[in-house]
Amino acid sequence: MFVTDDVKFVGVKDNKIDLFESQYPVPDGISYNSFVIIDEKVAVIDTVDIAFTEEWLGNVSDALGHRRPNYLVVGHMEPDHSANITSFMRVYPEAKIVSTARSFAMMKNFFGEDFIDRQIVVGDGSSLSLGNHTLHFITAPMVHWPEVMVTYDSFEKILFSADAFGKFGNPDKEEVWDDEARRYYIGIVGKYGVQVESLIKKLLALEIEKICPLHGPVLCENIGHYLNLYLTWARYQAQEDGVVIAYTTVYGNTKRAVLLLLEKLREYGCGNVALYDLARCDMSMAVADAFKYSKLVLATTTYNGGIFPFMRTFIDHLTERNYSYRTVAFLENGSWAPMATRVMRERLSGCKNLEFAHSKVRILSALNEDSEREIDALAKEIST
Ligand code: FEO
Repeated sequence: MFVTDDVKFVGVKDNKIDLFESQYPVPDGISYNSFVIIDEKVAVIDTVDIAFTEEWLGNVSDALGHRRPNYLVVGHMEPDHSANITSFMRVYPEAKIVSTARSFAMMKNFFGEDFIDRQIVVGDGSSLSLGNHTLHFITAPMVHWPEVMVTYDSFEKILFSADAFGKFGNPDKEEVWDDEARRYYIGIVGKYGVQVESLIKKLLALEIEKICPLHGPVLCENIGHYLNLYLTWARYQAQEDGVVIAYTTVYGNTKRAVLLLLEKLREYGCGNVALYDLARCDMSMAVADAFKYSKLVLATTTYNGGIFPFMRTFIDHLTERNYSYRTVAFLENGSWAPMATRVMRERLSGCKNLEFAHSKVRILSALNEDSEREIDALAKEIST
C-alpha cells in the first residue's frame, strides 16, 4: 500500500489476538505498522510482532523489488515493534540500525546483542539524508517507553510517530478514529501526559501532512484534529461535558439505584451519560470514558471492610493514570456499616484538581424514600 510514491506501508494486521498487551480486548484486532522509504538510500521504519515474521519480511521484499534496505530505523523497542530486528539484520546483513542509545541498550537485553558494528546512534535533533528525503529524529521519552523517538520526513512532511496517534482495531475499517484511539491512548500512554504534551509542543512547530503511527490507520487529513485531541488528553482535560456512572452490584440493589440516577439525569436534561457495570464491561472502555467526560459517579457496596474488588481496580486504573480535573460523586451501599464513600474518596486522595459533589447517596441495603431523594438531589446537582 502506498502512503506516497516513495513511502509504502509494509505492516501487518493481527486479527487473531485476544488481548493486546495481555489486557486490552481488541475485537477488531490491531495492526503493527511498518513502512519503507525508497530514495537513493532505502530506510525501513520499525518491524512488527514476532507472530508475523514471514509475512512482514515478504511485505518488505515485495515493496522494495530489486532494492535492498540501507537502514532500519527503530523508534520503539516494545516487542510488538522490535521483535523482528534480529531476523531483519540476518536477511539484510549490509543494513544498519538507526536508533537511540537507549534502544541499543534494550536490544542487548532483549536479543543478547546490540549490533555494535552496525549501529548509527542518533539523538534529539539528529538527521539522516536518504537523498531527497531527510529524516529528522525527535526523542519522545515515555511516549510510551524511555527510548522512544519519532521520525519526521521533511521532504514529504510525514511524521512516523511510534506509538503516538495509534489506535486499536482494523486500520481499514471505516470508523471514527477518536474513540478507539482514546481507549488506546488512555490505557497505554495515559500516565505520561507531561511527556506527551512536551512531544506535541515540538510537533506543533512542524508542518505535518501525514502521520504514520505504529498502530491503526495512516492519518492524512485534518492533522490539527489529532494534535488537538492529544493535547486535551495529555493535559487531562475533559473532552466533553457528560457523566460516567461506574458501578458494581452484588444482588441488584446498587444497580437499581444507578438506573434511577440515570433516569433522573435524563429528566434534568443531561444527555451524555455512560453506564458501566465494572464486573461485566470491558473496563478499559469505562476508564477511557472516565477520561473523556467531565463528571464521574462511583457507586459500589461496602465489602470486606472496604469496597467491591472491581471498583478498587477501576479506581486504581484512574489514579495510576493521573485522573484529575473532574467532578466526582459517590453512591454507597452497605447493609450494616456503610463505608464505601469514605474508602473511595481516600483512594482518590492523591488525584489533583478533583471536585467532589456535595450531594451524597447512602443506600442501606435497598432503595427507600430517603435514598431516592438523595439520588434526585445528586442528579440535579451534577446535571447543571
Ligand atoms: Fe505498540 Fe509501546 O508499543
